[in-house]
Amino acid sequence: MTPQTLTLSLLCVALVQLAAAENVTLCWGRGADGQLGNGMPAAAEGDSYGSQTPVVVSGGRSFASVCSGMAHSCALEPSGLGVNGQLGTGSNASSNTPVEVSGSHTFRAITCGRFHTCALDAEGATWCWGVGSVAPSSEDESPISLVPVRAAEGHAFEAVCAGYDHTCGLDASGRAHCWGCLSSSSNIICAAAPAGNNGAGSLGAGLDAEASQTPVEAAGNHTFASLSCGVYHTCGLDDENRAWCWGSSVFGELGSGSNPGENEDGFESEPVAVAGEHAFASISAGYSHTCGLTLNSSALLCWGESPGNGQGLTPRTLLTEPTEPAWAADSGLSFVAVSTADDATCALDDDSNIWCFGGGSTYDPAYNAADGTASATPVKLAGGHSFLALGTAHVLHMCAIAAKPAGQA
Ligand SMILES: *[C@@H]1O[C@H](CO)[C@@H](O)[C@H](O)[C@H]1NC(C)=O
Ligand SMILES: *[C@@H]1O[C@H](CO)[C@@H](O)[C@H](O)[C@H]1NC(C)=O
Ligand SMILES: *[C@@H]1O[C@H](CO)[C@@H](O)[C@H](O)[C@H]1NC(C)=O
Ligand SMILES: *[C@@H]1O[C@H](CO)[C@@H](O)[C@H](O)[C@H]1NC(C)=O
Repeated sequence: MTPQTLTLSLLCVALVQLAAAENVTLCWGRGADGQLGNGMPAAAEGDSYGSQTPVVVSGGRSFASVCSGMAHSCALEPSGLGVNGQLGTGSNASSNTPVEVSGSHTFRAITCGRFHTCALDAEGATWCWGVGSVAPSSEDESPISLVPVRAAEGHAFEAVCAGYDHTCGLDASGRAHCWGCLSSSSNIICAAAPAGNNGAGSLGAGLDAEASQTPVEAAGNHTFASLSCGVYHTCGLDDENRAWCWGSSVFGELGSGSNPGENEDGFESEPVAVAGEHAFASISAGYSHTCGLTLNSSALLCWGESPGNGQGLTPRTLLTEPTEPAWAADSGLSFVAVSTADDATCALDDDSNIWCFGGGSTYDPAYNAADGTASATPVKLAGGHSFLALGTAHVLHMCAIAAKPAGQA
């Protein structure tokens, strides 16, 4: 081979790789409702389908971001097209492969709640679908919209996050506005959401506020740079990267340093400072715990229920302040993103691997069926994927974006 042909063939390889620089989306965890998106038939019986190792979402589309609700997942194409595993299609039918959200919207962000999904369009307008997206004017009216409908009218948001039954938007001046569930002093009320849940102050608007279908500003005159909605709590990072959280406090998930249950209501209705004066690069509010990555050293700090407690291990440890897991210092791992779901945690390292620890469900990656417990130290996701981004999640399943291997159709 002459030097000239060598150059040509190398150039060819480079071009092929560029053309193939597309992504695949992978999900793991419980999949009985089709939420893994891999085309598995919906299982007839509850927990009978799921995967501890990541499975590829069908359809061959390349997504830039992904989120997981309780029984659905959604992903956004770089062009802003929203694709949804369960709702928003105009039909009640479940789908175990991605289907396009109806309405020809172009979204720039998408977030999955428990039974609802919200997205921001180019103008910052919020569109939601699923449970609670319609305010019924009578008891006979359904609170469910099967297609995207406007929410938070009159507000333009830069970012949006959905918890179980609440949603928060961040406006251009850094104010957090939440709607959906709210607790009044003794009763937990959710606007247009199913009865029997526990909203626990997730709006952050003060004790006396009622559940609200329209956004209410979080109390305390805070300005935030980012928000993360947990199941029953919400956290935000302010302009100095300090963390504030509000909502349910029963597991110490607010990290305020006070003992869980000290506040007899079991929640804080206004943002409280996370203890320890840490500056965080990112934060992820889960169900019974919250984790963040510090700005200066990318240290992983978590608070609330410590990993492994989901299986009823004793003694049950509730961490009231941000705490570095015992394994972290010697692990040699450096994380760039963290996501919490239920009592499981997964984190993306700087070598494109995802590691998970904790969790109480059969399909959590760190769960060991032989002894019925989840590893409190990180377990690497199998499959040799080169992960680019980790999705937000709430319970039982999680998704991530990986680079499509060169040559894969
Ligand atoms: C691939 O994923 C990355 C990270 O989420 C995103 O920035 C990029 O736009 C995606 N590319 C394509 C072609 O989907
Ligand atoms: C979808 O399901 C809900 C709940 O079962 C029901 O109230 C609603 O009427 C259904 N809508 C359609 C279009 O079938
Ligand atoms: C709220 O904060 C802004 C700065 O973000 C400040 O200018 C204003 O005075 C504060 N308002 C109150 C009532 O403290
Ligand atoms: C990083 O910040 C933490 C507080 O979050 C502090 O304890 C630590 O000393 C800082 N480390 C470095 C290397 O600056």
